[in-house]
Amino acid sequence: MTNPLAGRDLIAIGDLDKEEIVFLLDEAQRFQAQMAQAHRLLLLKGFLLATLFYEPSTRTRLSFETAMHRLGGDVISVANARATSSAAKGESIADAARTVAGYADIIVQRHPAVGSAREAANAVDVPLINAGDGTGEHPTQALLDLYTMRQEQGRLDGLCVALVGDLKHGRTVHSLAQALAHWQVTLLLVSPSALAMPAPLVATLQAAGLQISETDDLRAAVQQADVLYVTRIQRERFTDPAEYERFRGPYRVDRELLAGREKLTVMHPLPRVDEIDPAVDSLPNAAYFRQAANGVWVRMALLTALLGREV
Ligand code: CP
Repeated sequence: MTNPLAGRDLIAIGDLDKEEIVFLLDEAQRFQAQMAQAHRLLLLKGFLLATLFYEPSTRTRLSFETAMHRLGGDVISVANARATSSAAKGESIADAARTVAGYADIIVQRHPAVGSAREAANAVDVPLINAGDGTGEHPTQALLDLYTMRQEQGRLDGLCVALVGDLKHGRTVHSLAQALAHWQVTLLLVSPSALAMPAPLVATLQAAGLQISETDDLRAAVQQADVLYVTRIQRERFTDPAEYERFRGPYRVDRELLAGREKLTVMHPLPRVDEIDPAVDSLPNAAYFRQAANGVWVRMALLTALLGREV
């Protein structure tokens, strides 16, 4: 398949069809193999990436920047844009993006407002990638999640995937669930009812053919699933701290819970707070740091594709 993505934005996972997602996963796999031989490629030499982050990030920003450096390109970065960019003086998302597009060939933006990535993309001519827009979407996380599931389990069709935790506010699960709808997957949505996945999204997923069960029984889900995708309760989305405290902790994954489930892949977009016991980290099931590392290959594939370069 020739590169179908040159010059495009990635705002929501629905911007990609199944063929395009598979193209990116396959390209990522080739980059992973290539990077076992070389520390640096020159595919994007002369190109410049701008990362514009209005919300905190470790993995997404640094893996995008790593990907660009590994491809031989350059990076300019604002890591705390709400405080240190002219957003602090009242500059709009659109004006900031338009300005940065004058400096860079591609922009990666994270912002707390749903719809902010689309707003920025509409203001610029260079490709813009949504690195998270509030409780909306995180499409590149969904790509690396699919990549990790495929790598750990050897397939996507036929998997039973349990999404656990704050499914109301978690943008990673919103994007991932939509991406999984391209495959024959059974989805278990495991959360307290107050943090359930939004009903319109569940209806959309069901209409797309996903088999879905909603439950608050983590122990039962662990027995059924091939992949346990754990998420943290999103403290920053709660206006009432007492409400956050009420939901914290009941879905903790520990070694006792995973006993006898050697083939179960445990994933987490990270950061974790206390929802996975660190004692789990040394089990072969624990894929979450491999998952975070996979972000580099997937983002190398995406940057190369959007900038119109072939591997
Ligand atoms: N998974 C993820 O988005 O992590 P960061 O918030 O550290 O970028």
